[in-house]
Amino acid sequence: MQSSFNMDSAHLINAISFKTLDEYVQRFGNTPEEDFRNLTSNRLGSILAVADANSPCCMKFAHYLPVYTQLLAPMMNKRIRMLEIGVQHGGSYRLWRNFFGEDMLQWTGIDIKQECLSMNKRFQPENALVYCGSQSDIDFLDFVSLKRGKFDIIIDDGSHKSSDIIASFQTLAKYLKSDGLYIVEDLHACYWDGFDTSCKDSTAVSFFQNLVHSLNIQAANNARAFSSNSTPKEWSPPCGIKRIDFHQSMVVCYIGIPDPLIEWKAGSAIL
Ligand SMILES: C[S@@+](CC[C@H](N)C(=O)[O-])C[C@H]1O[C@@H](n2cnc3c(N)ncnc32)[C@H](O)[C@@H]1O
Repeated sequence: MQSSFNMDSAHLINAISFKTLDEYVQRFGNTPEEDFRNLTSNRLGSILAVADANSPCCMKFAHYLPVYTQLLAPMMNKRIRMLEIGVQHGGSYRLWRNFFGEDMLQWTGIDIKQECLSMNKRFQPENALVYCGSQSDIDFLDFVSLKRGKFDIIIDDGSHKSSDIIASFQTLAKYLKSDGLYIVEDLHACYWDGFDTSCKDSTAVSFFQNLVHSLNIQAANNARAFSSNSTPKEWSPPCGIKRIDFHQSMVVCYIGIPDPLIEWKAGSAIL
């Protein structure tokens, strides 16, 4: 039995909390290499796979790739405006640019680090533009969004601190188009020290769990509701949301007005 994985590929660094290969295979039924191949055999995986030493570094959890490939497929061959929180080395911009095509994507990056602004020397602002500031600074987010929105997609891959994730969502969601997507990555940080997670009820995961109630807000505010006047304010989204999908480490909010509660009574025979 091996004492640790022998994986020389940087791609696999996060396959990790298992000390032995046997433990991993027992849990998942495949080797990490097999899982990696399965999870990355999609269009985004093929873009990452051809990254070379000159490509900007990008680190994505492999299990995001099939989710993103499916989510973004309907947006292909359309002009897309994307806002991404967390630029780092510009690797994710390379990924999205290759996925949508440079001329079809207007990408805006936000990062707290000044050095990310160096990307602005390499790209035309109509294609890619980085702004330096914090994702918790509401005035900054409004400023950027008024210049570059409305967006089709917002991705939060920034600090992964719950208070920042929530502040960004509360400010930015309204700058999405109807049918736009608000995606938060790396929610596993909600379970880790150092990410502003001292109280488990105030994590970003809890926030989005509560937001699920907004899908049923018509019922909650309806005369039949058990607490008609006391809908908690955390059930109210900053804009209409018609669907919320939870994935491993990731949440996807679909922007739009929830359908009216219309009950269709068809036929008249009763038992
Ligand atoms: C995980 S990296 C982004 C990776 C990039 N999206 C990719 O896939 O290649 C996180 C980035 O968020 C930035 N960041 C951290 N705290 C931030 C904050 N409060 N506001 C904006 N950006 C922040 C960091 O400087 C870092 O570059």
